[in-house]
Amino acid sequence: SSDLAAVVLQALSASTDSCIEDTWEFAISGGHDHAALVGALMSLQADAMTASEVRQASFWELTAEGKEVAAYGSPEYQVWKAVPAGDAGISKADLEAQLGAPLVKIGMGACMKVGWLKKGPQGALVKGSDDVRDTTQDKLRALEAAGGALESLSAEDAKELKRRKMVTQIMRKSFKVTRGAQYALERKKKTADLTREMLESGEWKTTSFKEYNFNTLGAPTGGGYLHPLLKVRAEFRNVLMQMGFEEMPTNRWVESSFWNFDALFQPQSHPARDAHDTFFVKDPAQAVSVPADYLKVVQEMHENGGSGSIGYRYKWKREEAMKNLLRTHTTAISSQMLYKLANQEGGFQPKRYFSIDRVFRNESMDATHLCEFHQVEGLVADRNLSLGDLIGTIKFFFERIGITQVRFKPAYNPYTEPSMEIFGYHPDLKRWTEIGNSGMFRPEMLRPMGLPEDVRVIAWGLSLERPTMIKYRISNIRELFGHKADLGRTKRAPICRFDI
Ligand code: PHE
Repeated sequence: SSDLAAVVLQALSASTDSCIEDTWEFAISGGHDHAALVGALMSLQADAMTASEVRQASFWELTAEGKEVAAYGSPEYQVWKAVPAGDAGISKADLEAQLGAPLVKIGMGACMKVGWLKKGPQGALVKGSDDVRDTTQDKLRALEAAGGALESLSAEDAKELKRRKMVTQIMRKSFKVTRGAQYALERKKKTADLTREMLESGEWKTTSFKEYNFNTLGAPTGGGYLHPLLKVRAEFRNVLMQMGFEEMPTNRWVESSFWNFDALFQPQSHPARDAHDTFFVKDPAQAVSVPADYLKVVQEMHENGGSGSIGYRYKWKREEAMKNLLRTHTTAISSQMLYKLANQEGGFQPKRYFSIDRVFRNESMDATHLCEFHQVEGLVADRNLSLGDLIGTIKFFFERIGITQVRFKPAYNPYTEPSMEIFGYHPDLKRWTEIGNSGMFRPEMLRPMGLPEDVRVIAWGLSLERPTMIKYRISNIRELFGHKADLGRTKRAPICRFDI
């Protein structure tokens, strides 16, 4: 289009009052594309190098059918021509075989109406006149020759040809172009930005700058986008709330060893409590307080047992329990919630709790492990629950998040008995993979809290990352979370839905 701009400027160079009378004709005679020429013109106009006036022109254009008639004659003429002279005529079937049924259908009726053809003996078609004029073709040819000029068609003819879909009226917009206030034969490129160098050298004084364009849309502003994990979390939350679960307050990452381990009947010598597995907090290293009476009962359960258990029979240390850490699981919150439930005013009430939040483990990192991840935790506390309740609840939950095939495998947790690992059938990998852990909380955990004898608590936990990676088809966890995550993917990730 810079070439076309030069063409326009050149055309206006002959004299001060030289002009382009009509861009349409100018484009045709110069072999230019009119739309492109107008584009170049608008750009010149923005710099006041040219000025223009709109011209509107209406004219007739032949449709594809109109062009065909102009070239070969109207259907009625073609039909008339195909009928042999004489009284024998031709049968309709033979005519159709010659011209095709559609043409005969249109042309025959018109011929009968004006008497060009008539019915002969045995229904044959016979010429009604030996010499006819195809005025339709004449008119279209004349119109073509006149370049579609409006006045070359009478109102009556126009109506008829339009009805027969042989012509359409076209409105054409073109321009008369004259020199603008800033006209020059050479177009000088305008500068868009003022630079420090221009200011220092004084060059800005002689530079011609581009005008501001206040109509431009500008660059799209980037908004915030929800991380895929948050999308899946929102959906899990929906599912659990629909199942009657209440969300536990998990907005605290630092926890005491007491709530994270001891309250869960996890012995102080347990390997998970080693710094190799757990991040301990240096400052403050010790928790401020835990309920004193409860601490004593927990100590008693660890050291000597109770409620039919013989305990671990070791020397339980308070300092060990008071060590601060980054919680290794959200079960640290579940223990506090159950303790509250046992000790609330009015006594125990059945409850369904869930949480989805971050936990930390001192793991060696690989494609499926990071030092921090999100845990989905659920528990049901009610009287006389059974293992069947646990299996049923878990099955129902996983079904709602699209994992329809689940299996259970006996496992071990310090705080549950029985314990079961949950396996789900992975549709991509086409094999069973571990997706969670579950169990019934032990009496050694629940009795010290003061929960009634017949209260059972079923619970399960799973990572949020695993189902998210399956849902969004991400194979390396580092692509999902952390500094290597692709922000573009987060931006493009569709909303999460689990259709059931
Ligand atoms: N806390 C367990 C884990 O981190 C999950 C779990 C929760 C297991 C509740 C049993 C009961 O893997």
